[in-house]
Amino acid sequence: MINTISDIKKKLDVHKVRNDFPILSRSINGKPLVYLDNAATTQKPQTVIDSLNHYYTFDNANIHRGLYFLSELATDQYENARLKVKEFINAISASEIIFVRGATEAINLVASSFCRAKIFCNGDEVIITHMEHHANIVPWQLMGDRKQINLKVIPINDSGEIDLNNFANAITEKTKLVSVVHISNTLGTINPVKKIIEIAHSKNVPVLIDGAQAIPHMKVDVQELNADFYVFSGHKVFGPTGIGVLYGKAEYLEMMPPYQGGGSMIRTVDFEKTTYDDIPGKFEAGTPNIAGGIGLGAAIDYINQFDRLELSLYEEELLKYATNELQKIDGLKIIGTAKEKASVISFVIDGIHPYDIGTIIDTDGIAIRTGHHCTQPIMKRYNVLATARASFSFYNTKDEIDKLIHGLLKVKKMFS
Ligand SMILES: Cc1ncc(COP(=O)(O)O)c(C=O)c1O
Repeated sequence: MINTISDIKKKLDVHKVRNDFPILSRSINGKPLVYLDNAATTQKPQTVIDSLNHYYTFDNANIHRGLYFLSELATDQYENARLKVKEFINAISASEIIFVRGATEAINLVASSFCRAKIFCNGDEVIITHMEHHANIVPWQLMGDRKQINLKVIPINDSGEIDLNNFANAITEKTKLVSVVHISNTLGTINPVKKIIEIAHSKNVPVLIDGAQAIPHMKVDVQELNADFYVFSGHKVFGPTGIGVLYGKAEYLEMMPPYQGGGSMIRTVDFEKTTYDDIPGKFEAGTPNIAGGIGLGAAIDYINQFDRLELSLYEEELLKYATNELQKIDGLKIIGTAKEKASVISFVIDGIHPYDIGTIIDTDGIAIRTGHHCTQPIMKRYNVLATARASFSFYNTKDEIDKLIHGLLKVKKMFS
């Protein structure tokens, strides 16, 4: 049982963990890679890479329709991955797990299906926050083009937090859905999603949680949260790109019409009428990303060998250390200072464009993100065009943070 951070430090052997990720030992520009762009995508452990290689080398076949050995083997592995996701987020049933391309497609699926189910009528509202990723803004606007859905945006304070009273007051009888990010990819804010769900449910409004950034940083239990929908992307949680998850409560998924039509999602097809498969098949038209699903299963196996609390506390320690060190740099301002924060730090430095920061430290093999991070409304809110962003995973070290600081001081010197 782990009680204190020092116990954890003893237990988590970061250098051993780093050996699981082959890319972390490569060099860039003759310098060891310092990968600090984990909010964009995470690196992959060898076990995930091996699972993809193994699948394509030995087990490749299309799934669900073949009665021969390889097809059944591939089907078993794909469906087993669905079971792993179900366990990972504690869904009631594997049929509540829809494989999609990623968080973006999952939100588009719900938006489109709610629209077609006529859950949204003209003048209805979807509530989001000011800190959403574009993936949780644009799909609702696209539906709005057809239905005149009003997007109600909950403001954020200077620290990057929402006020729950504002949120509660924003819900009206026109509100058909609340769709909120769990952890902001730009500010790092951890939103009180359990409370948000409680408030929305007290007014009979369902809630979608964009968990793209939360899943890699914390244990998520969809039953405990009582989320109606929870979405995430495999590549941000050490799995492959092109695979993601829409979790939905069965009661919603069953009444929602399909998102796309084609093979696999049907029961019968006639020119006059088509009937659809049960969930989850109803939402998985065409040949899916079979290898991606299997790879995501391998990523979940990888994470499951750790104590999630242990990883979170280690990342928290990295966050504190990096925040302290960054604050020592003259003219550097951190954007996003919420009390509850994940290991994502956006910052600007007086008089230096973030692109210059990113480009210069790249010459030392340090990879950070620069730009608007697909959150242009946040840039507007803080009156900046772009930020630099360092985001940490449990395979990062304080030594890498020191290298970042050293790189930033070098940038400052060049511009002084
Ligand atoms: C909070 C958040 N939501 C949604 C997305 C979209 O994820 P994807 O591009 O994998 O669909 C991202 C990606 O950065 C994100 O950070």
